[in-house]
Amino acid sequence: MLTIGAAIQDVFLSHSQELKPVSDKTADELFLKIELGSKNDVNNINFSTGGGATNAAVTFARQGHHSQFMGTIGHDPAGDSVLNDLDKEGVDTSRISYSDKYNTGYSVVLLASNGERSFLTYRGASTHYDIKNFDLSDSDSDWLYVSSMAGNMDVLDKIFNQAKHLSIKIFFNPGKNELKKIDKMRVLLEDVDVLSVNREEAQQIVNGEDLEELVRRLSNLVPVAIVSDGPNGVMASDGKTIVRAGMYEDIPVIDRTGAGDAFGSGFLSYWASGRSLKDSIVFASANSTSVVSKIGAKAGILHKNTTLHAMPLSEKPF
Ligand SMILES: Nc1ncnc2c1ncn2[C@@H]1O[C@H](COP(=O)(O)OP(=O)(O)OP(=O)(O)O)[C@@H](O)[C@H]1O
Ligand SMILES: [Mg+2]
Repeated sequence: MLTIGAAIQDVFLSHSQELKPVSDKTADELFLKIELGSKNDVNNINFSTGGGATNAAVTFARQGHHSQFMGTIGHDPAGDSVLNDLDKEGVDTSRISYSDKYNTGYSVVLLASNGERSFLTYRGASTHYDIKNFDLSDSDSDWLYVSSMAGNMDVLDKIFNQAKHLSIKIFFNPGKNELKKIDKMRVLLEDVDVLSVNREEAQQIVNGEDLEELVRRLSNLVPVAIVSDGPNGVMASDGKTIVRAGMYEDIPVIDRTGAGDAFGSGFLSYWASGRSLKDSIVFASANSTSVVSKIGAKAGILHKNTTLHAMPLSEKPF
């Protein structure tokens, strides 16, 4: 499994009176209000690493796949943290490139008591990509897991073309900067084997209100389409059946960072091993539920042979 995308150091600040959500108008519009010039104490700090592609690489490694990450970091302590985390997990880091100009991506995450959070992110080396550093010509991967490339469509175009020539299958979880370039996105989708998006992202690609409508329309574009909707569950189709799943466990959310990555990579861990659509959705749900119950995008990622339990799920012919 070769993952391509961002590598970020995430520093979580939490357990603070100052990080209590406040509302201006309606309950939907919540803000963290930090007065300019004030000094605010936080009682908890957590250093971890993120970036969709490194999170996914850890799911694959913990599930026993050969896992490799391709991305760019800087020569700095944040880059060392990313490398250390991946090494510790047994992820192959030989395709990591270094930027001489930019620092490693770095996020300060202000975590509210309800598990929601605000990011202050420096993308740095995880947005200024050099196309030379992204090359699959000697890759023997079975699957490419592509998370956001910060809208670098030329890099995606090159990688997707190479993958198709080498019969490497493509899983794609586009980010907001890819979705903004919808015409180029549509061209990329022609090569995608599994597309995983949340509800809002799906609505930027096709029209539709409910999950089923969205999944059916996405199924006209890609062989396997998955649309997740946070705690409201998920719908997926492989063109033969449609699976609708609810919540794996109704647990208190500590930090929802990495939910989408754990879901997508969890799905692909199973799907790439030949498991059914239904089993793959159950594992994706279990993995993401575990991730939102811990601070950081990687801490909760499930290890191989974790016992799974049943969840609300139904399946019908496409
Ligand atoms: N509050 C929650 N409680 C339980 N499970 C959750 C919750 N939020 C997310 N999940 C799990 O994570 C999966 C993916 O979440 P979601 O649909 O929010 O993805 P996303 O919007 O792509 O997330 P991200 O912001 O990480 O990219 C859901 O299908 C669900 O299994
Ligand atoms: Mg997402």
